Amino acid sequence: MKLSEIKIAFQKELPDLYSKSEIEELFAIFCEHFLELNKVELRFNLDKDLSEVESQKLSETISELKTGKPFQQILGETEFFGMKFFINEHVLIPRPETEELLELAINKIKEQGQKEVIDSTQTDSSRTLKHSDTQLKILDIGTGSGIIPIVLKKHFPDADISAIDISEDALKIARKNAALHNTEINFIQKDYLNEDLDKIYDVIISNPPYIGIDENPEIEDSVKGFEPNIALFSPTSDALIFYKKIADNSENHLSENGMIFLEINQKLGNETLELFRNFSESALFKDISGNDRIIFCKKVNPQ
Ligand SMILES: C[S@@+](CC[C@H](N)C(=O)[O-])C[C@H]1O[C@@H](n2cnc3c(N)ncnc32)[C@H](O)[C@@H]1O
Repeated sequence: MKLSEIKIAFQKELPDLYSKSEIEELFAIFCEHFLELNKVELRFNLDKDLSEVESQKLSETISELKTGKPFQQILGETEFFGMKFFINEHVLIPRPETEELLELAINKIKEQGQKEVIDSTQTDSSRTLKHSDTQLKILDIGTGSGIIPIVLKKHFPDADISAIDISEDALKIARKNAALHNTEINFIQKDYLNEDLDKIYDVIISNPPYIGIDENPEIEDSVKGFEPNIALFSPTSDALIFYKKIADNSENHLSENGMIFLEINQKLGNETLELFRNFSESALFKDISGNDRIIFCKKVNPQ
């Protein structure tokens, strides 16, 4: 079979689910994956005779795509923050909004660290933040594929980073990703809503399940049919249940001057921000599409 014939099959079989340009993109993605041909090479190789294995793999891909399965799950991997991550049906496919959450967290943590160094040169006793003088302690709640702690560890290699998830299957992927990127993360299987934390952290970060049960009909079948519902939906009718617990935990499990970074449901920006009104600093940020998406808070530093 020639590659051009497979291209025609992509174009004929997938228009019910994908636009013309998406099909073009998918064809290029899978040719790169299975045949190691980039987009330019692809144009000059449409006459290429495929081996039996190659045509079988590409034909099977078309069948899988026709079921609505996300292409990242078919590939078994995705790109996030410029890095490769393994994924499967047990983890959420990383979203670009989470890159924005990380971008903000990395900048704020660096800023805080620099400020702390300046403060410490002025008065030694004024230091309250842990991470300038001891190891920065970071907790990620609901880690899924481990993208958040792994990216943070790459930026803050000396930090002590823990990451919890209720799903042992998700943690298997997270551990595989940590090994791929040579990062040491303390992964913990824990039901955050029903078990207590036992440490104090300088940074708490989370992209928890935040879709309310009432929003279920609005969620696309390709999302709820293929991605784990436990990663998408709040387990109760209260879409803010994780945020309420994080706000509670900030009293005893966040260090003075500690910071919280949360990805949120775009429909609940102000309600979520309200939960953190006691913080000396709290702010709601929009994502690149203009939707309320991130909450940042900094804990009060008592004088
Ligand atoms: C929205 S996903 C986020 C995954 C990943 N952090 C990301 O940003 O792509 C939420 C994660 O929370 C986990 N989760 C759901 N309920 C939980 C609970 N009660 N305790 C701990 N983790 C939970 C799910 O397994 C899922 O991996």
